[in-house]
Amino acid sequence: MQSYTYPKLYPKYPSVNDLKVKAKKRIPNVAWEYLETGTGDELVIDKNRSALDKINLYPRFGRGKLIPKLSTTLLGQTYTAPYGIAPVGLTGLMWPQAEVYLANAAHRYGIPFTLSTVATETPERIGPLAGDLGWFQLYAPHDPQTRQHLLSRAWSAGFKTLVVTVDVPMPSRRERVVRAGLTTPPKVTPSFVWQGLKHPTWTINTLRRGLPRLRTVEQYSESKSLEQISYFMRDRWRGDISVDYLKAVRDEWKGNLIIKGILHQEDVDLAINIGADAIVVSNHGGRQFDGAPASITALQGITAQYKGRIPIIFDSGVRSGLDIVKALACGTDFVLLGRAFLYAVAALGEQGVRHCIDLLSNDIQNNMVQLGVEGLNDLKDFKMESL
Ligand SMILES: Cc1cc2nc3c(=O)[nH]c(=O)nc-3n(C[C@H](O)[C@H](O)[C@H](O)COP(=O)(O)O)c2cc1C
Repeated sequence: MQSYTYPKLYPKYPSVNDLKVKAKKRIPNVAWEYLETGTGDELVIDKNRSALDKINLYPRFGRGKLIPKLSTTLLGQTYTAPYGIAPVGLTGLMWPQAEVYLANAAHRYGIPFTLSTVATETPERIGPLAGDLGWFQLYAPHDPQTRQHLLSRAWSAGFKTLVVTVDVPMPSRRERVVRAGLTTPPKVTPSFVWQGLKHPTWTINTLRRGLPRLRTVEQYSESKSLEQISYFMRDRWRGDISVDYLKAVRDEWKGNLIIKGILHQEDVDLAINIGADAIVVSNHGGRQFDGAPASITALQGITAQYKGRIPIIFDSGVRSGLDIVKALACGTDFVLLGRAFLYAVAALGEQGVRHCIDLLSNDIQNNMVQLGVEGLNDLKDFKMESL
């Protein structure tokens, strides 16, 4: 316990929040705002945080020397720790080639990395780096042929787990992003250039790789212009998918199928009925619907009813090992983190991601010992309350 890949980083960055502070300084405001923003008044971002903070766990004593074990098996695959990296779109805006660093670090450590459909690198490039631990996230194109082509690309690139996101029926309003002047995909405006000048390392790396592009989907658009691809996505890739659409995906995908973005308990039945292998309880990190419940609150309702019937994954608002421990105590089988890993990569590149993994895993182990448990499963029956 308490061993770090980069011991010298620990005194400077002892928590994810320290990586966040560093990331904010290192990237242009427009990228920061894209990463941080929620929808509307960002009520759900606050709810995610405060609901996690309100959970109390009752530590036990007299358990002797404890050696906590973090490895876990999910959908037939063993992972070194009970968490992984959530899909994040426009990733290269936060840090050029972020997907490469995230996939490398995740593979090396033995946790899953999820590549978004609207990431800035392709499945062909990232699949071999993520190895057999890579997950591919689908924003579903309306056209079945495009979908089949995309799924077969992901499969051939080595992704055997598919995550279908269902909580983006249309793009959400994100006022902070509008104020920051971000267009999707980004356009080179005078303000963008000025911000680039103020963040030279980001700019040099961006110039090396080129401006962020939706490299996975651009081949399906007739035009290669960024603006046209953006219109094309809005038109033909809207995300308002039906149960029949999900059934078609189920028939076409031979690997594990995870449905991401579930909050309502009856939607768990829908997922089970279409033959999904797991669900992600998520409110998209507060980015889609500002009237949604905190994801951890929804999780508690869902695990009470569905624990053991379908593997349950949880995300939204997780920033520490303690948050992960709390989610496991609420009955989730696995946890994903979005922004935390983007802070890490934007702050320190690949070594930031590795450091972030160290921080989270050490924090989980420490908190398990504080509670008096050795196994992740022991957390599920722990005495807890939500105040
Ligand atoms: C900048 C950003 C982009 C995202 N892009 C996607 C995406 O392309 N596909 C998807 O399913 N979820 C996407 N999400 C949601 C994440 O997968 C995840 O649900 C969310 O980040 C969890 O909340 P957290 O950031 O508080 O950990 C995105 C989140 C952020 C912050």
